[in-house]
Formats: sequence, structure tokens, C-alpha cells
Amino acid sequence: MPNKIIVTGGAGYIGTHTTVALQTAGFDVVVFDNLGNSSGRAIDGVVRITGVRPEFINVDCSDMDALARAFDAHRDAIGVIHFAALKAVGESVEKPLVYYRNNLNGLINVLDNMVRCKIPNIVFSSSSTVYGEPDTLPVTEDTPLKPAKCPYGQTKVMGEQIIRDTVLANPDLNAILLRYFNPIGAHPSAEIGENPNGIPSNLLPFVCQTAAGIREVLNVFGDDYDTPDGFCIRDYIDINDLASAHVAALKHMLDGARGIDVFNLGTGRGVSVMELIKTFESATGVSVPRKIAPRRAGDVPAIWADASRANRVLGWRANVPLSETLASAWRWQQKCMAEQNS
Ligand code: NAD
Ligand code: WQD
Repeated sequence: MPNKIIVTGGAGYIGTHTTVALQTAGFDVVVFDNLGNSSGRAIDGVVRITGVRPEFINVDCSDMDALARAFDAHRDAIGVIHFAALKAVGESVEKPLVYYRNNLNGLINVLDNMVRCKIPNIVFSSSSTVYGEPDTLPVTEDTPLKPAKCPYGQTKVMGEQIIRDTVLANPDLNAILLRYFNPIGAHPSAEIGENPNGIPSNLLPFVCQTAAGIREVLNVFGDDYDTPDGFCIRDYIDINDLASAHVAALKHMLDGARGIDVFNLGTGRGVSVMELIKTFESATGVSVPRKIAPRRAGDVPAIWADASRANRVLGWRANVPLSETLASAWRWQQKCMAEQNS
């Protein structure tokens, strides 16, 4: 049975966890990654979990010639999961052209090669950022999209549109757009996890580094929001649950779903920043020094998913309890520190 899947960005945070999920489900994975925000060591972690080394091609998706050669070597693939993108919100404001070039050229080149090589199924990493500051909560897939607040978010809005138009023009191409809420945590084995460069801008990596004493204090951005406890609310989804949704999406297309579809991937539960910090402390027994800081520009006060469509159509739901996810992130943090010190 043909079962080869190309995973662009497969050396990254979500890509490694999804590669594990794909291999565990019996798929043969080929990773395309330029290692711009990752390292080959992440793939070694995958191998330690599954016992199988995915084929790895060091290629930049925005380099059409190189990407065409990589696709030519894997014309027998039955699907592509396209993770490869730059994702730092702040950096995208400073370097919009770098983000548009990388994220949009990369996507266009991938789609072009899929049509050329007749590879019929794509899963695309979109983001809850496409909803901007929603007027109603929770957000369903029909909640209107808003202009994104940063070039990074804009590449997701535009990426979704590019895929819609390409599917419309190519009846043999199927696509599933997955709008992730806030992915967090690590594989339970602590063999793979999130590896931010420099000072983390996302909440949980900063919480872990503060708990570990690498950062002095966590700034909690704003305590005066119009929410029950005054803190921002997000929908934090376990990375392993997120990974398994990609397998479900792929199987849905392989089972015959045609055209384009879109799914929110979240838990359906909103959690405030303070609730997350306190759950981390009780799950790990480690305290997180913190102070209230001004609101962060561009933050949406509250957003969480209605993820019932993914449950109805894909048979998928988020299962891992938040405390377990936070404990996995902490184990990963400790393992990274132990490796640095050895
Ligand atoms: P990541 O940076 O850990 O992984 C992305 C991978 O893509 C990296 O290994 C990087 O080297 C690679 N890459 C980037 N540009 C490339 C290019 N032009 N050619 C080849 N490889 C390239 O990020 P992640 O958190 O795993 O995110 C994966 C996808 O999910 C991205 O599209 C991101 O925008 C999206 N997403 C992430 C989050 C999140 O909070 N992590 C939320 C919503 C959506
Ligand atoms: C979560 C909450 C902060 C850091 C971003 C992107 C989004 C998606 C996921 C890719 C907010 C608060 C944070 C800190 C804090 N990525 N916070 N102190 O902003 O919801 O989403 O990552 O698609 O597009 O925008 O995630 O983890 O940065 O913040 O108080 O040091 O934690 O204010 O309320 P966000 P985050």
C-alpha cells in the first residue's frame, strides 16, 4: 500500500510530534526542512521514540529548483503536511518581506509541485490568529476571519486563500486547513519538545525557563482584562493531541473526502494566564516567580475554540489533561538543561 507522506518543516516543534504520530500510524515519512529554526537532533529524538528514521532532505521550500528536485524524488507520496513557515509574531512586524517570501513562496512552491507530481492531499498549518479579536466566543470555523494584526498572521489568512483557489482550479487536489489554537507541551518521553531560540515570546516556554531559574521573573501581561479573573484567556492544546489530528485529517482525505475543509484544533476550554501558571505549579511542585506587567500590544483578550466539528467529522478530540501537558513541558525543560550541563 502506498503510504508515503512528505512533512515540510518536519524537524520543527509540531512537525516532529506529527512525524511520530504518522510513523506510529504506519505511514512512511519524508521530512523536507531547511533547519532554519530546528536541528537534526530533533529528528534523532523521533528515532528514539519510534525506532524508525524518517528520510530527511535539507531543502528550502522557497527555493523552487531545489524543492522540485526533492519532490521529483518522492512522486509516489500520497500526501503533504505543510508545516514549514516562520512563526515569530514580533519578528514578522520587523521583517514583513522575509515572512511573506518564506511563508507564501514556500506554500506556492509546494502546491505547484503537488499539482505537477499529482500528489492529491495537503494538510496546512493555519492558526487561530486568522480570527483576530472575535466578536463571539467560542469561535467556530464559520466565525468571520478578521484582518490579521501582523504579517505572520496575514500569511496564514493569505495561505488559506491560496489553497482554496488552487483546489478550486485543480479538482484532483484536496486540502484540509487546520487552525491551531495554542499548542503546548512535549512528548511524554521527553525525547522531543519545543526548542525556542533566545528569549521565548510564548507563555509556556517562558514559564518553564522561569521555573528553571533561567529567567528571573515571568511578566504576566495585563491583569485588567474584561475576563473573570482579569487575565487573558487562551485554548491551550497538547502537542500530542494536535499531532494526532493531522493523522485523522490525512486519513479523512485518504478515505475519500474531496475538495477543501477546515477545522479548529483546540480543547474547547478557555484557560487564563494565571490559571495556567497555577496549574503548572501544582502539576510540577515548582513555583514560578511572576509579576504583573502592562498589557502586551496586539494581544486578544480572550479566544477559545469550538472544536466540535473536528470531533464530528474527523472523530478527533483533545484528550490530554492540562496538568499532564504542563508536566511534560517541565520534564522536557529539565532534560534540555541536563543535556546542556553534560
Ligand atoms: P517550528 O519553527 O518549530 O517548525 C517549523 C519548521 O519549518 C522548522 O523546522 C523550520 O526550520 C522549517 N522551515 C521554516 N521555513 C522553511 C522553509 N522555507 N523551507 C524548509 N523548512 C522551513 O514551528 P512550529 O511551532 O512547529 O510550527 C509549525 C507550523 O504550525 C508553522 O506553519 C506555524 O506557523 C504553525 N502554527 C504554529 C503555532 C504554534 O504556536 N507553534 C500555532 C499556529 C500555527
Ligand atoms: C499566551 C498568553 C499573553 C508570554 C501566539 C501567536 C499565535 C500562535 C500561538 C502561531 C497571552 C500571555 C505570554 C509572557 C504572558 N502562533 N503571556 N507573559 O499570543 O496567544 O499566540 O502563539 O500561529 O499566532 O500570536 O500566545 O504564548 O505568546 O501568549 O503573560 O511572557 O500568555 O499575554 O495572553 P498567543 P503566547
